[in-house]
Amino acid sequence: MAVVETTDPAEAPNRESGKEAPVVVESITMAFGDFVIQRDLNFRIEHNDIFIIMGGSGSGKSTVMRAMIGLQAPAEGRLWFEGQSLWEIGDTVRQDLMRGAGVVFQSGGLWSSMTLAENVGLPLGEYTDLNAREIYEIAQLKLALVGLAGFEDFYPSEISGGMQRRAGVARALALDPEILFFDEPSAGLDPISSKRLDELILQLRDSLGATIIVVTHELASIFTIGNNCVFLDAQSKTQIATGNPLWLRDHSDNPTVREFLTRGHVDSEQDQTTDEES
Ligand SMILES: Nc1ncnc2c1ncn2[C@@H]1O[C@H](COP(=O)(O)OP(=O)(O)O)[C@@H](O)[C@H]1O
Ligand SMILES: [Mg+2]
Repeated sequence: MAVVETTDPAEAPNRESGKEAPVVVESITMAFGDFVIQRDLNFRIEHNDIFIIMGGSGSGKSTVMRAMIGLQAPAEGRLWFEGQSLWEIGDTVRQDLMRGAGVVFQSGGLWSSMTLAENVGLPLGEYTDLNAREIYEIAQLKLALVGLAGFEDFYPSEISGGMQRRAGVARALALDPEILFFDEPSAGLDPISSKRLDELILQLRDSLGATIIVVTHELASIFTIGNNCVFLDAQSKTQIATGNPLWLRDHSDNPTVREFLTRGHVDSEQDQTTDEES
């Protein structure tokens, strides 16, 4: 992972923890021109978190994620990525820093004309000096990590949607990122494939020690994998909750949050158990 010292680390709001939090969002506003999508966002993502960005469709989840992965500058505020102010370090440094992040987009984003091994090897060819054989071996390793050993020479069209999604994960892992971003990873997948993807995300967090940020509104996923979250509200255009999703489901005093997390069953305090996932 690229480490570039261009910002005064003393400015970082999170350095008292000894180890910097991977991502700290500080008074961020996201906007398109004058049109504000979300304002006054404040939250931090700790090492080893599976952090969920949730909220209804169009609330701005993807837009906020785009700020974290270096694709769209916030209109206001600061975003700390690995202790550096991501939008104050210049384009070149930011792009270097972003190589420490793996991103899995909704569709999986594979090139249909390339085999899985070629897809996974793409970032390695671009950013490392490894030769073709070494790249193939690493691609093999990454594919094995997501349960696709033996599928190196298949084309995306020859495998299922769930497998394509996992191949997209393998590609995001190519450069050994410490932070992984997923935007709606299970959208359009059947429940079994969704569940396998959740298991994969948990496994990556545990075995690689990665920090994972997931944009999703799928409750089953949220409760299974998320240990912390932020809830983006479309109406007030700001966050209305942060914390553990299960805790928020049972204890949030915000009716919108509880309604979302209980699919509308907000009337009874006791009709949701907290241990059903164990
Ligand atoms: N390129 C863009 N230009 C203008 N508005 C946009 C653009 N992309 C998204 N938006 C608007 O921003 C809002 C949030 O979008 P998005 O972040 O994609 O929401 P979510 O991921 O929560 O569904 C939506 O109202 C959407 O129409
Ligand atoms: Mg989105």
